[in-house]
Amino acid sequence: MSDNPALIPQHIAVVMDGNGRWAKKRLLPRVAGHKAGVDSTRSLVESCANYGVKALTIFAFSSENWNRPEKEVKGIMSLFVTTLASEVEKLHKKNVCVVFIGDRSRFSESLQYAIETAEQLTCNNTGLILNIAANYGGRWDVVQACKKVIEKNRSGELSIEEVTEDVLSNEICLNGLPEPDLFIRTGGERRISNFLIWQLAYTELYFTDVLWPDFDKKTLSHALDWYQTRQRRFGKTSEQVVNNANTAG
Ligand code: IPE
Ligand code: IPE
Ligand code: MG
Repeated sequence: MSDNPALIPQHIAVVMDGNGRWAKKRLLPRVAGHKAGVDSTRSLVESCANYGVKALTIFAFSSENWNRPEKEVKGIMSLFVTTLASEVEKLHKKNVCVVFIGDRSRFSESLQYAIETAEQLTCNNTGLILNIAANYGGRWDVVQACKKVIEKNRSGELSIEEVTEDVLSNEICLNGLPEPDLFIRTGGERRISNFLIWQLAYTELYFTDVLWPDFDKKTLSHALDWYQTRQRRFGKTSEQVVNNANTAG
């Protein structure tokens, strides 16, 4: 793998899937899989910071995950609280800027407080931007953006004719960041599961059967190797892309 900064994705989005199956294989409760997954997440954050990735967006809990058994949801919620308590100071020391995306209003007061504290403590950090998608859904994201645009229209700030893709993009979560270059999903499923549906429009999609608690630096480097073999055309022809690269170089 080349560590030429031009070939390292600026933004990586990850669906950390497979915790439940990892636990089941070991006859452990599902929550044990989620706990083991925290170690993989810590290592992912560290590697991304070392590679000089600008932003990492991880799917921690989807808006659909509330439909899981109550015991598992409770276990995940308390894991969020304990993980934030144990990790945020370390992330701060590593200059990581922590941001949460998703509808946090459904979380307990203590979790909302922990989220705000993490964001406030790290908001001036200039290293890796770590976006944690929690109670996040891509469709929810598009709807909340539409609501903001409609408000601007109602207040006379914006006419319908002025609504463009850029205007909507400005209200979608993660605006201001480059769109994800690389999407990684572990756990073997080949789907988006209502993650960043707007933002992934031109992202390179990488799937691996590795279960999230088994994800390590080697798995990440395989994903980066694969990414470096992709030619990103954004609708153009292969020849155009090659010619552009030659003139730019
Ligand atoms: C992903 O792992 C973590 C969350 C959804 C919170 P899963 O819990 O979905 O693991 P599998 O897919 O059941 O193995
Ligand atoms: C997506 O995984 C959500 C997270 C990893 C947080 P799921 O396991 O919930 O996805 P589906 O239900 O299999 O599509
Ligand atoms: Mg799953």
